[in-house]
Amino acid sequence: MDSSKVRYLILSFVWMFPITPIPAQEKDAIPSGQIYQDASQPVEARIDDLLPRLTLEEKINLIGGGAYMQTHAVSRLGIPEFRMTDGPFGVRAGPSRVYACGLALAASWDIDQARKVGVALGRDCRARGINILLAPGMNLYRAPFSGRNFEYFGEDPLLTGELGCAYIQGVQSQGVAATMKHFVANEQEFNRRGLNSEVDERTLRELYLKPFEMAVKKAGVWCAMDSYNPLNGTHTTESDWLNNQVLKGEWEFKGLVMSDWKAAVSTLATANGGLDLEMPSPKFLNSQALQPLINAGQVTQATLDDKVRRIFRVVFSMGWMDRPQLDNSIPKDDPQNDQVALDGAREGIVLLKNSGNILPLNPMNVKKVVVLGPNADPAVAVGGGSAHANYTHAVSVFQGLKDVAGPNVDVIRVPWSILPTGTDIAAPGKTPLASTTYGAEGNPPFPPASIDDIKSADVAVICVGYNGQSARTGPDWEGEDKDRAYDLPPGQVAMIEAVVKLNPHTVVILNAGGSVATAGWIGDVPVLLDAFYPGQAGGTALAEILFGKVNPSGKLPFSWEKRWEDCAAYGNFPTEASKGNDYKEGVFLGYRWFDRKGIEPLFPFGFGLSYTTFAYSNLELQSSPSGDFTATFTVQNNGTVPGAEIAQLYVAPPSTGVPRPMHELKGFVRTALQPGESKQVGITVAREDLGYWDPATKKWTVTPGQYQIEVGSSSRDLGLKGSVTQVEKPN
Ligand code: BGC
Repeated sequence: MDSSKVRYLILSFVWMFPITPIPAQEKDAIPSGQIYQDASQPVEARIDDLLPRLTLEEKINLIGGGAYMQTHAVSRLGIPEFRMTDGPFGVRAGPSRVYACGLALAASWDIDQARKVGVALGRDCRARGINILLAPGMNLYRAPFSGRNFEYFGEDPLLTGELGCAYIQGVQSQGVAATMKHFVANEQEFNRRGLNSEVDERTLRELYLKPFEMAVKKAGVWCAMDSYNPLNGTHTTESDWLNNQVLKGEWEFKGLVMSDWKAAVSTLATANGGLDLEMPSPKFLNSQALQPLINAGQVTQATLDDKVRRIFRVVFSMGWMDRPQLDNSIPKDDPQNDQVALDGAREGIVLLKNSGNILPLNPMNVKKVVVLGPNADPAVAVGGGSAHANYTHAVSVFQGLKDVAGPNVDVIRVPWSILPTGTDIAAPGKTPLASTTYGAEGNPPFPPASIDDIKSADVAVICVGYNGQSARTGPDWEGEDKDRAYDLPPGQVAMIEAVVKLNPHTVVILNAGGSVATAGWIGDVPVLLDAFYPGQAGGTALAEILFGKVNPSGKLPFSWEKRWEDCAAYGNFPTEASKGNDYKEGVFLGYRWFDRKGIEPLFPFGFGLSYTTFAYSNLELQSSPSGDFTATFTVQNNGTVPGAEIAQLYVAPPSTGVPRPMHELKGFVRTALQPGESKQVGITVAREDLGYWDPATKKWTVTPGQYQIEVGSSSRDLGLKGSVTQVEKPN
């Protein structure tokens, strides 16, 4: 049985049982009226009161997990277990609502939606008595095939940070602690426990640490999860530099640092390296191993107390000892969250190609739609691994089309295995069609009946890509602990090619946590929609987009290359054949690389089509004495249907001796506009966000000079331009 199934079984078992009740005789002995029990007392005073009451044994017990997904209780003091769960877009404690994945949320560029998803997940946790949500994942998209890209928010640290912060604030507003993970430089799944990520400090500060820094400083995240990988030779779980100096020191993080599951590898270095909670069980931070080190003074009492203090700072700040965490007023299957799931799917789908304006389909003209491909039905809502949650109900593309198209449109599902071809286009586990020669003696007539359907249809909808619900060992599985292939799973390209030949009105819908190889087919396909993993309402949203009931508004949160060889991490990203994991591309990740090398991407970062068009005008820039500035400009919907535009602001720094990206995203705003409507929108950028990390001085440095400001609809379409000047020392 593969590891994700084993884990799911363990979790199902764990969640069958309520929190261990405190035995009656112990209950009577629990002190009452003490400062640590008094919600009106300041948090630090409560901790000061509690710490001396705990024995050494109890303190050590508290810094190691129990029962896989919770902390240990101290029943004699009335301290219960605190419970945790994955995952980022659907809580993994029994069936639950499943929202559009992180990459789809990033494609919406919608900060309000990120907050709503956070609130919804917080409520889903409270309905199950969960204290800590093990999310969001804030690693960056470095290569298309990294197995967990779908959980993250794309290639840009600002977009990741902004959406992550809103999500965290939403979760924590419900009395549930969020966990920023996987801290840090865990951008691949291949050999994620063994490979050392080599990343220079400037690259870490400007890219990979940035979203985490924002989560601490802007969102006040309560938990951090150290990753599996060593970073520059030291396991993150042992890294004094990462946990003590940067996170807790410089950033003043007040919460707790836990390990990823079984990521701790030692006792002494882990205890002193800033880890506060070893999960899921105390393999290294246990009494037997720690007590001698404490007795010998190698781990101080103060170090141990600080870990316990951090755990209880979260507990008391969140009110977990002052009210039941289980809120019975919230239904487990919460209908209030349906709209959040649907909005997330609607906003997170990106229309990448629409030649000849085949979309939107007009239900008055379209009489027959055929639906093909392995991902058409059942719904492909979510990727695999710990982010996989069991949805309460989900709508597939096929079902969504039947619901949305209306009674006058025939929606026909053609099984994948019926396509005529001489090539291998069988679904995994099915007999390749190459073995069937239609029309030959003893074989079905060519074309088979349903092929006449694929030809006479007004439109063919092909649903391809990856899947988190199939067998983990299969070529179409995408998820944790495994990087996927770059090519579409076997047979899918052949299917696309076969269908396009039969019916040029072909729409391809893709499920994947990143780009896939398109050479050979993208030129022939008129319509491509990237749905990522759109959650349980994905089929409805896709059908609404196809029939123009919803205008697509998502924009790519990563650069889509013409070929993998064009990407920044090509040659550096770890594979079976490579020895290490050296982030040699440095700060030039994603669009920063394409710009620097003058390479044309297939679809640029920030790109997405709409059924309407938008015009930009009147850029005005207003600087404050401190060097912060505000850009105001007008966006107009000059088409005939309502739509939402994501306006993006990039800043190009003055040239200095330091190689810097040509321009970087520094702000964005999503605006809904009726036909003909225009709005003035504003984006404020802080001076400190214009700097680069100087490894020599170990400081952020803003070079004096002129900064070009560019505003528009994608990283490669920036029609409005202006400039601001930064001086050496602003007021
Ligand atoms: C994953 C984490 C997850 C943890 C608990 C690990 O394998 O990397 O993201 O939170 O398991 O399920």
